This record gives sequence, structure tokens and C-alpha cells, in this order.
Amino acid sequence: MEQEKINAALKAVSFVKSGQIVGLGTGSTAYFAIKEMGRMVREEGLQIRTIPTSEATRQLAKEWQIPLININDIDAIDITIDGADEFNNQLQLIKGGGGALLREKIVASITQQQVIIADASKQVEKLGAFAVPVEIIPFAMRAVVQKLNTLGGKGTLRHKNGKPFVTDQGNYILDTRFGLINDPAALAKELDHITGIVEHGLFIGLADCIIIGKGTGTEIITAEGEV
Ligand code: A5P
Repeated sequence: MEQEKINAALKAVSFVKSGQIVGLGTGSTAYFAIKEMGRMVREEGLQIRTIPTSEATRQLAKEWQIPLININDIDAIDITIDGADEFNNQLQLIKGGGGALLREKIVASITQQQVIIADASKQVEKLGAFAVPVEIIPFAMRAVVQKLNTLGGKGTLRHKNGKPFVTDQGNYILDTRFGLINDPAALAKELDHITGIVEHGLFIGLADCIIIGKGTGTEIITAEGEV
């Protein structure tokens, strides 16, 4: 599985050109892409400026001497390489297993070329075996749990080390099981309208391509189908 992640990551990095502004994803697959870009910056003179999608990724970029810039100093990002927890053939994703979904979605929303990298185990016919991470304002927890119930969702507060997990923005996450999701776009719209939800992990219409790591190489899906 690690080799699949590496294969996908290296393929994605081959899309990055010198001079670009690059969004850096979060998670164990994005890790390999960030590492490779760091190597190219240090050894091959790759010139990029980057926006991290989490504090953890910011630390990696610093460690590997990848130039960082502030998202509020730019209008758009050329390319972002990020992972996913699940994806289907319509390029719809569930993200947020690592808790970084809010910044990931903000970065994706201003990215021209959103490249998703994943090992083959993340590919599903229907999304929903992985609980949808829903980032909420702590004050709204009970109200949001009730609203999710009315949509058929069962939200469980994410914990870490015996305490509620707190996101980079100081919010909580409800990992929410809806069962297999027949219409992810419709569900995403419903979640968009619940007061107290800051963001959710359904990424619809944001990915331009998905690079699936395979044992010996990669397979790429785009809106036009497999390449
Ligand atoms: C982080 O919040 C997530 O959206 C990650 O992109 C996702 O969980 C994929 O992570 P892995 O590459 O570690 O599976």
C-alpha cells in the first residue's frame, strides 16, 4: 500500500512546473508528494511557492525547505496535490480523515488543477463506508447532531488521546455515518445549509483528476474517464 501511495505521489509531482503556486495536501499520501517536492527544491532548483492545508503539512514544508506563502497574499493556486479517504468514478471524494478538511476545501476552491492521489483501496463504487467528517462549532454540537439525525446521519464526536479532537481552526469533528450515499452532491448541499457546520468532508466538483497508485505504476481518472 505504501508503494501505491508513493507511485501516485511521484506521478502527481511530475505535473508541477517551476514558477507555480502549489497547494500542499495533508495525510500519509500527500506526505510523499511533499517530500519529493522538497527534494526537487533542494537538489534540482524547482521554484515553487506553496500553501499548506494544515499545520502538520506546514511543519513538513519547513523541514524540507519548501518556500511557504500566505494564502491571503494570492488570488489563485496553480495546482494542489492532496489525498482522499474515499473516491468514486465521478471524482467525488470523502476527505477529512486527518481532520484538515476545512483548509483542504478552501485551498481546493481556489485551485486551478486539483490532483488527488490515493492508493487503490480508497476507490469505491458508492461513497459512505468511510464516515463523513463534519467540522462543527463546539457550541453547536447538540443542535448539529439532531439535524444530522433528520438526514439519516449518525454523528460521533471524534476523540484523540481521550479528549475531543480539535481542528487547526479550534473546531470539533463529527464523524457521520449515512450508510452508502446514493447522491453525494445532494447530501453535500443539505450539509452546506446546517447552521453550526463549518464544513464537511464531501468534496464535490473539486477534483480535476485522481491518480490511483497501483503496484507497478498508476492509473488516472479524469472527468472524461480513465486515461
Ligand atoms: C486529511 O484531513 C484528509 O483529508 C486526507 O487527505 C485524507 O485523510 C487522506 O489521508 P491519507 O493519505 O493518510 O489516507
